[in-house]
Amino acid sequence: MLRRLHSEQPESFAFTPANQKWAEAQLTKFPEGRQASAVIPLLWRAQEQEGWVSKPAIEYIADMLGMAYIRVLEVTSFYFMFQMQPTGSVAHVQICGTLSCMICGAEDLIAVCKDKIAEKPFTLSADGKFTWEEVECLGACTNAPMAQIGKDYFEDLTAEGFAQMLDDLAAGKPVVPGPQNGRYAAEPKSGLTSLTEYDSGKTQYNASVQLAADIGDSVKRIQGDEVPLLTPWVGKDGVVAGRAAAAKPPKAPEAPKPVAKQVEEAKKPAVKAKSTPEKKPAAAEEVAEVAPETLKEARGGLPDDLKLLKGVGPKLEQTLNELGFFHFDQIAEWGEAEVAWVDSRLKFKGRIERDGWIAQAAKLAVGDDTDFAKKAKKDGRYEDE
Ligand code: FES
Repeated sequence: MLRRLHSEQPESFAFTPANQKWAEAQLTKFPEGRQASAVIPLLWRAQEQEGWVSKPAIEYIADMLGMAYIRVLEVTSFYFMFQMQPTGSVAHVQICGTLSCMICGAEDLIAVCKDKIAEKPFTLSADGKFTWEEVECLGACTNAPMAQIGKDYFEDLTAEGFAQMLDDLAAGKPVVPGPQNGRYAAEPKSGLTSLTEYDSGKTQYNASVQLAADIGDSVKRIQGDEVPLLTPWVGKDGVVAGRAAAAKPPKAPEAPKPVAKQVEEAKKPAVKAKSTPEKKPAAAEEVAEVAPETLKEARGGLPDDLKLLKGVGPKLEQTLNELGFFHFDQIAEWGEAEVAWVDSRLKFKGRIERDGWIAQAAKLAVGDDTDFAKKAKKDGRYEDE
């Protein structure tokens, strides 16, 4: 199947505030500079929120992770779990069509989809509420035939029951996932023959079904505020367990930024920037923004390769150029107030300090290499793309 960006795309994408907080917390799971490892969880959360992964969502996540758009698109198009076209506003139904399910009636379920949703998969139903597709084995073969909707499995389906289920969903009635023929889980239809002691005291449904039933909605889109944010590794003070205080979540507001210190420790740049807008001293506690010195264009038409800075991919380099930064020495001269100014103009804040741009730029400005720059030059590619 050809997987490419859909011809119609929304104008923009943004995580809900709760999902944004969750997404930023995911970044703290990974070592500094390896935040790209969070690409799949973030794409998945975007899909849980919107129903599919749009181009603006891909770009938004790429910017968050300092990755080139193409890299995130590659991940999205590689994994079939990511939907690259709009899905039904109520449900995207995935029918297992592999052996056990096929033997037990998957074709009948697909016929229901064709009848009630659309003749072809990945096509919105007339009311826009449903889409469907056939998928490979979902690992619930003992409960064949089955379908997945969102995070839930609907098992032991019959064509009639499945059709009724779609009608209920269309009418806004909650449906109960799990086995639809009275089975508790995957035990024999005739009842348990062993481990019978576990039969007593159980909840009405098996654990995953019980949770869906308790929430009262098995096909709900994830806004992030339905469940507690599961980020136990980030303490209440915003500090990640086992890391120094400097390695706080990217948006932690309390940090007066020790960027000036980095500059002092690094070598001074040899070349001075040209334009000299007014500078104010940075406040000790509260970092007021001060516009840094900017250029209309690169000196001599020869910009530095800002992608040699760890954490700067092609998109960020373009943004920096648009803001008036073309040379390492410009960046090396930023103080806290200038960093605050630039930071407020980047989509994803905190990365200047997190990736140590100032210290890196100071080295590169005088012709020294950083480990990252050496590797990038040697490999001919940039780690953060
Ligand atoms: S064959 Fe359908 S879940 Fe395995």
